[in-house]
Amino acid sequence: MYIDDLPTPALIIEANALEHNLTAMSALFPGTTLRPHVKAHKCTSLAKVQERFGHTGFTCATPREVLGLAKANLNADILLANECVDVARLGAIAGTNVTIAVDSEETIRAAFRAGLKKVVIDVFVGLPRCGCEPDDAGRLADLARSLGLTVRGVMGYEGHLMMEKTADKQHQVNAAMQTLHACAEIVGGDLISAGGTGTYKEHLTSGITELQAGSYALMDTHYATLGFPFIQAAHVVGTVISRSAQWAVADVGLKALGMDHGNPEVDGYDVWFCSDEHITFAVKRDAASLPAPAPLVLPQVGERVLITPAHIDPTMSQHERAFVHREGQVVDEWAIDLRGW
Ligand SMILES: Cc1ncc(COP(=O)(O)O)c(C=O)c1O
Repeated sequence: MYIDDLPTPALIIEANALEHNLTAMSALFPGTTLRPHVKAHKCTSLAKVQERFGHTGFTCATPREVLGLAKANLNADILLANECVDVARLGAIAGTNVTIAVDSEETIRAAFRAGLKKVVIDVFVGLPRCGCEPDDAGRLADLARSLGLTVRGVMGYEGHLMMEKTADKQHQVNAAMQTLHACAEIVGGDLISAGGTGTYKEHLTSGITELQAGSYALMDTHYATLGFPFIQAAHVVGTVISRSAQWAVADVGLKALGMDHGNPEVDGYDVWFCSDEHITFAVKRDAASLPAPAPLVLPQVGERVLITPAHIDPTMSQHERAFVHREGQVVDEWAIDLRGW
């Protein structure tokens, strides 16, 4: 089967591009120095490929992702890098190697009640989301230990710096990590977990013990603006279903894409907008002056178009399956089995 035979919209993953990205990142962060974040792809089949590249620990954002990884036997060392009070459902796998992030008395007590055994203290390093005040990290670690929990160390997510493009980026990441290192001294344990695709370069020298990157595997147009060595591996294939003299419409809309980073791209064309089931695009205004292959004409009804998502995580979670292909030939079908809540 070829990708041209798939019912659309269809999520496709280019195997060579995926392998290129996994090779590039694992060369920089080998083995357990990379803890791939599964929220970016929501797919245990893809996580198994990451495992084959040497990464045996995984990062999760939800209990459902943790349970999915455990079910797929990807449970050597799972970090739920997110605060969660409703963790009772993790009790069933509490004996396995699950560590949960905590930043309050409530989240520590919830982990304890669920029978979980290991925590990391999540520290605020600049993104106003989760993470305790640095001054509170020691007290929380003491509380967790008093309940019999193992405190494996600290984590801190500097999400506000992912898209930073100034020359000052290294300095800003170092400053955020200085806070984390100071807390690590007080908290103890051997884990200092942080970062993401956007700050992988800065973490080559930041002194953390592991990077929590996810998007590097499949990429999106948002991260592509940073000029990283990772290439686009995931697209959504659409079919042109209508056409006027000025624009064409394909069957890939909001329900097949994550839109919070803006419009996706249609190779060679200008995207006007997306609605529930449609994407409207046109010939680039300056197409004539651009080097080939910017097309000067719109595709015909029935032709296929390749759509590149602006944000990979929410795009993946819109699809039940991904078709893996090499040069257009479908070689595998992967369930996006960690999707949902
Ligand atoms: C806790 C945490 N760690 C790491 C990441 C990095 O993910 P990515 O590499 O996809 O930017 C995220 C993304 O939101 C996150 O929430």
